Amino acid sequence: MAIDDFFTPFSVGSLTMPNRFAMAPMTREASPGGIPGADVAEYYRRRAAGGVGLIITEGVRLPDPAAGYPTTIPTLAGDDVLAGWGRVIDAVHTEGGTVAVQLWHQGVQRDEADGVVPVGPSGVDAFGAPKGRALATDELPQLAQLYADSAATAREIGFDAVELNSCHGYLLDQFLWERTNLRSDGYGGSLAARTRFPAEVVAAVRGAVGPDYPIIFRFSQWKITDYTGSIADDPTQLQELLAPFVEAGVDVLHPSMRRHYTPAFPDADPERSLAGWTKKVTGLPVIAVGSVGLETSFRSEEHGQVIQPAPLDRLVKQFEAGEFDVVAVGRALLADPGWVHRLRNGELDAFTGYDPEVALSALR
Ligand code: PHB
Repeated sequence: MAIDDFFTPFSVGSLTMPNRFAMAPMTREASPGGIPGADVAEYYRRRAAGGVGLIITEGVRLPDPAAGYPTTIPTLAGDDVLAGWGRVIDAVHTEGGTVAVQLWHQGVQRDEADGVVPVGPSGVDAFGAPKGRALATDELPQLAQLYADSAATAREIGFDAVELNSCHGYLLDQFLWERTNLRSDGYGGSLAARTRFPAEVVAAVRGAVGPDYPIIFRFSQWKITDYTGSIADDPTQLQELLAPFVEAGVDVLHPSMRRHYTPAFPDADPERSLAGWTKKVTGLPVIAVGSVGLETSFRSEEHGQVIQPAPLDRLVKQFEAGEFDVVAVGRALLADPGWVHRLRNGELDAFTGYDPEVALSALR
């Protein structure tokens, strides 16, 4: 019943979503040469037609060879690429949805298979081993400008918002994380110093897109290489971490959580998720995410236990408690592009979950 509350519009700046459901950004590697083809437009169109209010695209490589690999990850420069995104945007809008593009730089997590040297804060990977090279201090402004120019392009071609990937151990998160940021030039050291470059990126993007265009900032505790990774150990540190981004002009925070129902700081509150804490310490709109709609058990990597995903009423309770404004759904939308409509129509109980045939065809 209270799920009805998710079917109310949500506005921030120039963006109005028809409901509170977003599609979580998920890598596809299905854009040869970086060009999103007609199949990519169809993939996103089906999710918009299925009721998703805001599509957040897969991570899109900044137009710099060091930003990402492989080249089947789409980019955001060149006539063919922009025409491809134009098809995606039109398709989503025609179905009544909205679409944000996620700007992504992999930093030292970039694969070196093609000989391009990865760059990062300190030329070390998530385990402290040498990898790639450290960005020079005087390279940082041009890198921030690359984000800004890409955001301006996104706005120009009709994306409704831009999301910055500062999560999961990729470039901006490498600045935030003590383990990958060993700098001593004012961009590393204290938590405030570690936020400096990502905050400069936000400020540059804000300058490029104007005051009303929504900037979503995605961050995470966990890293691709380490599910226990952490950049804020308590609510005070979380506030310290996020304040510079609020100040620099972020509109929406998108804390990536592996499970939406996991308490972030159990000593401070036995229930409140990272989304809830993010909203509490910043007052900004928040997107929650993490295993929403998964119906089957999966194994916990940390403890070797079988975890039963929480039922949807847990999500509803978190929403009622004011923990978030929008919820992003990932895997459930891969398996079923019509998941949001099905939820609204009360059909989800009848939906028996993972059917390999349905899921495979839905991936296209
Ligand atoms: C992935 O491709 O697995 C991936 C990409 C971006 C993320 C996280 C995971 O932020």
